[in-house]
Amino acid sequence: MNIRDKILDFPLIQGGMGVGISLGGLAGAVMKEGCMGVISAAHPGFMREDFDANPERANLIAIEEEVEKARSLSEGKGLLGVNLMCATKGYGTYAEAIIRAGADAVISGAGLPLDLPKYAKGKTLMAPIVSGGKAIELICRVWDKRYNCIPDFIVAESSEAGGHLGFKLDDLENGKCRSLLEIIKDIRRVVKPFEEKYNYHIPLFGAGGVFDKTDMDACLESGADGVQIGSRFIATHECDASDGFKNMIVECKEEDLGILRSPVGLPARGIISSFVRKARERGNTVVKECINCLTPCNPSNTPYCISKALFSAAKGDREKGVFFCGSKAYKIDKIVSVKELIDEFRTKR
Ligand SMILES: Cc1cc2nc3c(=O)[nH]c(=O)nc-3n(C[C@H](O)[C@H](O)[C@H](O)COP(=O)(O)O)c2cc1C
Repeated sequence: MNIRDKILDFPLIQGGMGVGISLGGLAGAVMKEGCMGVISAAHPGFMREDFDANPERANLIAIEEEVEKARSLSEGKGLLGVNLMCATKGYGTYAEAIIRAGADAVISGAGLPLDLPKYAKGKTLMAPIVSGGKAIELICRVWDKRYNCIPDFIVAESSEAGGHLGFKLDDLENGKCRSLLEIIKDIRRVVKPFEEKYNYHIPLFGAGGVFDKTDMDACLESGADGVQIGSRFIATHECDASDGFKNMIVECKEEDLGILRSPVGLPARGIISSFVRKARERGNTVVKECINCLTPCNPSNTPYCISKALFSAAKGDREKGVFFCGSKAYKIDKIVSVKELIDEFRTKR
C-alpha cells in the first residue's frame, strides 16, 4: 500500500499508547514487520532523571531518542508515526520536534488537529484520528481552505478503543454509539468530494476493538484500507510497558473493563482499577503538584492527575495506576512476540 510517496508493506498501524506504553522498542519491532509503528508523544521522557525539573525539555529529548531507537530496531523496514494528542500543551513545539526527529507521520487525535498542517505540511504525513464523518468533514474543510491540503491518511476510531474516546459519556453508557463499520462507511462517504478535488485516495484505518483477522476483514469490506490496533500490542514481549501493566491486561476479565472520567475532558476506556473506583467515590479534588501538561485540565478541580496515574500504570502500580485498554482486552490471554501477533493478521483465511 502507498501513502503518498511512502510504502507500507502491510496495512496495519500499531496505535500510539501513552504514557510509556508505545515507545521506540514497540514501534521499532512493529516497523521491522513492515507495518507502521507509533511512538506516543505523551510524556515519553517520564523516566528521565531531568523530567521533574523540566518535563517539556525531557519529553522533547526523549522523542528524539525514541525515534532513533525505533529506526535502528526496524532494520530499515516499515514506517514510523508519532502520536500527538491535540490536548497537549505546547502542541506546536512537540509537532516541530517530531518532524525534526524524522518521523514519517504525525497522527493526532483527542481533539481536532485543525492546525497540524501549519507545522507539518510537506514535511511529514499528517493523519487525524476521528470518530465520525462530522469531525473529518470539518478537518478537511479547514485544511482545504486554510492550508490547501487534505489528510494523507485517516484513523477512524470507534467507542470500543482503549484510552480517550471521542464520544459523549451518555452515549457510551447507553450503548448509543455507532459501530466501527458504520463509522468507516460514514467517513468514506464524507471524504469523497475532497478526494475528487485533490485526485487522491485517502487511506483509512479502522481502530477500536479490532481483535483478529475476522475484525480486520470486516473493516476492509466496509471501505477501510487497513486497521490500527492498540490493546493487543500491550501483551507483547517488545511493548515498552512494565510486566505489571502487561499482566494486568492478560489477567483482566470482561467485568473489570469500563468507562472512566479523565481530566483530558473526554471519557476513556480501561480497567476499573481500585484507584479509579476510589476516585469515583471521592469526586473531584485539587492536584497540588501539577506539571501543567494538558490544555483542558483544571488542577484545582479535577478527578485526579492523569499524568501521574498513567506514570504509575506504566510502572505496573495496581494501587495508583489508570490502565487504559480496549473493550476486547479481556480476550487477551498470553504475551506473544510482535511478529507472532502480526503474522496472525497476515495469514490468509
Ligand atoms: C494504554 C493505551 C494508551 C493509549 N494512548 C493513546 C494516546 O496517547 N493517544 C491516542 O491517540 N490514542 C491512544 N490510545 C488508543 C490507541 O492508539 C488505539 O487507537 C486503540 O487502542 C485501538 O483500540 P484497541 O485497543 O481496541 O485495539 C491508547 C490506547 C491504549 C490501550
